[in-house]
Amino acid sequence: MKSLIQQAIVFVCFTTLAYGLQNGLARTPPMGWLSWERFRCNTDCDNHPDSCISENLYMAMADRLVEDGYRDAGYEYVNIDDCWSNKTRDENGNLNPDSKRFPSGMKALADYMHKKGLKLGIYGDFGSKTCAGYPGSLNYLEKDANRFAEWGIDMFKMDGCNVDISLMKKGYPEMGQYLNATGRPILFSCSWPDYERGKGIPIDYQSVASHCNIWRNFVDIQDSWDSVLKIIDYQANITDQWGPVVGPGNFSDPDMLIIGDYSLSVSQSQAQMAMWAILAAPLLMSNDLRTISPEFREILLNKEVIQVNQDPLGIMGKRVLQIKETEVWLKRLQFWDEWAIVMFNRGSTNATITLRLADIGFDYMLGYELRDLFKHVEIGHVERFTQKEYTIPATGVLMAYAYPSE
Ligand SMILES: *[C@@H]1O[C@H](CO)[C@@H](O)[C@H](O)[C@H]1NC(C)=O
Ligand SMILES: *[C@@H]1O[C@H](CO)[C@@H](O)[C@H](O)[C@H]1NC(C)=O
Ligand SMILES: *[C@@H]1O[C@H](CO)[C@@H](O)[C@H](O)[C@H]1NC(C)=O
Ligand SMILES: *[C@@H]1O[C@H](CO)[C@@H](O)[C@H](O)[C@H]1NC(C)=O
Repeated sequence: MKSLIQQAIVFVCFTTLAYGLQNGLARTPPMGWLSWERFRCNTDCDNHPDSCISENLYMAMADRLVEDGYRDAGYEYVNIDDCWSNKTRDENGNLNPDSKRFPSGMKALADYMHKKGLKLGIYGDFGSKTCAGYPGSLNYLEKDANRFAEWGIDMFKMDGCNVDISLMKKGYPEMGQYLNATGRPILFSCSWPDYERGKGIPIDYQSVASHCNIWRNFVDIQDSWDSVLKIIDYQANITDQWGPVVGPGNFSDPDMLIIGDYSLSVSQSQAQMAMWAILAAPLLMSNDLRTISPEFREILLNKEVIQVNQDPLGIMGKRVLQIKETEVWLKRLQFWDEWAIVMFNRGSTNATITLRLADIGFDYMLGYELRDLFKHVEIGHVERFTQKEYTIPATGVLMAYAYPSE
């Protein structure tokens, strides 16, 4: 009898692990706003009342998301990152927000988001402390999952500082199960594979995809074009490994959009937007929506590019061609023989490339119609064997949607 019960327990554990995180979320790449890259760990509300990590900041961004059209374009998550909590757990071992900076409490903040048709994300760490030294979830995984659910949290990013990285293969799936057991669908964002990559520990791609909705695969983005280039490089290198496990419910996260911050030009911002779209990457902006200029807002709200990112097949695009400093990336879309193409120019002068669609795998007899997704104009009909010239702006992209001609 006893051994039957033991077997049953083993069986239950085994099946939940085998089925993974079935929360029905992230059927397409999640979209929203995340504080880290722009606002970091600024906790000095006395001197920086408008930019410190506080409920005011997240409410202000929520207001902008709604009033300036971002929510209606799909950006729905408002995500808190590190430095939100009290430096210590309370006497019951619970996490609490810093009461000076979040005087209304997390439940009230979540309610604020939900009333506006938005969602609230929060941050934690698998280790003993977060990367910035706030309490981590090691030994408190279940408690913290329950706390987040109680507050009405919709997304949880679990970072991986201050811990033995070899514990992650077991620990992240465990947290996924605790989140599941709360009964509240909470989108699970894992930093697990990035830490394994950093340590040279082999990554179990299938396991990450089945236990996380989204996962970071590379270093943090910084506010610079070089950082964007390096990340794109890395994504090009790993699409063969991650591509097969990316799909509805599971997306690889190359980190935040820095469009509208201090460093990217308009063409570079178009490039980041285009590349994140073709990679089926989460679109999590980290910028100041109160002061962003209209040309950057327009890029973030580009419906045609967002549609590529949100394509229901959720395929991670890949690089198919490199000619000097230019690259061609392709992503298959839901309808028959429809594609997104990004021609990407790393160089600092405009580039002209000559391309035959047949050379990147387009084989439809009647040819294709191409449309420019940033200029919003038809490029026109292109035969598959025709050599055609395309001009790509310096450190920028030409992004096209291609569909079969009639
Ligand atoms: C928990 O997992 C089960 C089975 O995998 C799934 O049916 C259920 O919807 C999940 N619940 C939540 C809240 O994620
Ligand atoms: C942090 O928690 C401690 C103990 O629960 C409490 O006394 C203190 O007021 C809290 N500080 C802030 C800023 O929330
Ligand atoms: C991508 O792969 C190339 C060729 O192996 C390598 O030189 C480059 O450093 C890699 N880039 C990144 C960011 O890993
Ligand atoms: C995505 O994850 C789910 C479990 O949440 C799994 O059933 C599915 O096969 C995964 N998809 C891929 C492409 O790995």
